[in-house]
Amino acid sequence: MISEEKIFAAKILAIDDNILNIQILKKILINAGFINITIITDPTQAIDRYKELKPDLILLDLNMPKLDGFAVMLQLSLLDPDDYLPISIVTAEEESVRFKALQSGAKDFLHKPYEHLDVLLKSRNIIEVRLLYNQIKNHNTSLEQQVNDRIKEIRDTRLDVIQRLAVAAELRDKGTGMHVYRMSRYCQIIARAIGFTREQSELLLTTSPLHDVGKIAIPDSILLKPSSLEPYEFEIIKTHTTLGAKMLSGSDSVFLKMAETIALSHHERWDGRGYPNGKKEEEIPLVGRICAIADVFDALSSNRPYKKAWTFDETTAEIKRLKGTHFDPKLVEAFGDMLKDFKAIHDEK
Ligand SMILES: [Fe+2]
Ligand SMILES: [Fe+2]
Repeated sequence: MISEEKIFAAKILAIDDNILNIQILKKILINAGFINITIITDPTQAIDRYKELKPDLILLDLNMPKLDGFAVMLQLSLLDPDDYLPISIVTAEEESVRFKALQSGAKDFLHKPYEHLDVLLKSRNIIEVRLLYNQIKNHNTSLEQQVNDRIKEIRDTRLDVIQRLAVAAELRDKGTGMHVYRMSRYCQIIARAIGFTREQSELLLTTSPLHDVGKIAIPDSILLKPSSLEPYEFEIIKTHTTLGAKMLSGSDSVFLKMAETIALSHHERWDGRGYPNGKKEEEIPLVGRICAIADVFDALSSNRPYKKAWTFDETTAEIKRLKGTHFDPKLVEAFGDMLKDFKAIHDEK
């Protein structure tokens, strides 16, 4: 419900080139109890005043020089086509003209010469509808805002959980969490270079940190072994792919589905000599092929307990050397085009 107080405090804009007419109208409105009335006699100012005031009632004359009431209504309706325009036409015109005004957006008519009761009743009706409309609109905007806030919170939490899980896996491997951070950014660069949409490349950015999550399930005695691995131990290390995929499987979430695909396929090789399934070329999911380059690039260019970091140029040369054997040739081409971006992340260390 709209209170009487609000109705009489509503903003009224009266537009009529005839100063006498408009003053009579203003007087009637003031006598009725309305307190917030702006009058203009130049219709070319109508739009600016409307924008400035956002009136709850517009009392509009039809016959005016320079810009008639129809033209004013057209301009107002173009400002915001979804807005409720609280327009009442003040007219002595015949029915056909009034009908046209109705079609142009008028909500009601005040007849000249004015009758006090008619002005009061019709004005307050339009104002009431307009204020109710504003109320609903504000309520909807606030609901929409609340829903958007909640969606953002859920997204942020999901991202946070995914990243923490990925870092947990890396910490077990004596990492610092920086590998998954850089590697996922490298993935995103390649994805953008080969035409992934922004949304797809962000999905890859979010899910690729989970590529080694299966390492959580590899025994410390093997994962952290300081000396080189026995062949059977390496076979166990390799199972981080299938274990990771198993940990991530069975979800309907596009995030977890992509993460599962990546966990399973990031050690496959273009020539079929990778693991766990020995898939080759395009049998290997594209996201897995992208992650393979990003993962190796970061592994080579970082310090590890058993080796010193290769330089950026040495690492780049190695990725290019492995084109068509370890890596998808097209992706190595894309990588070659994006060296500046890779270097920027590489140099963040
Ligand atoms: Fe891995
Ligand atoms: Fe990795």
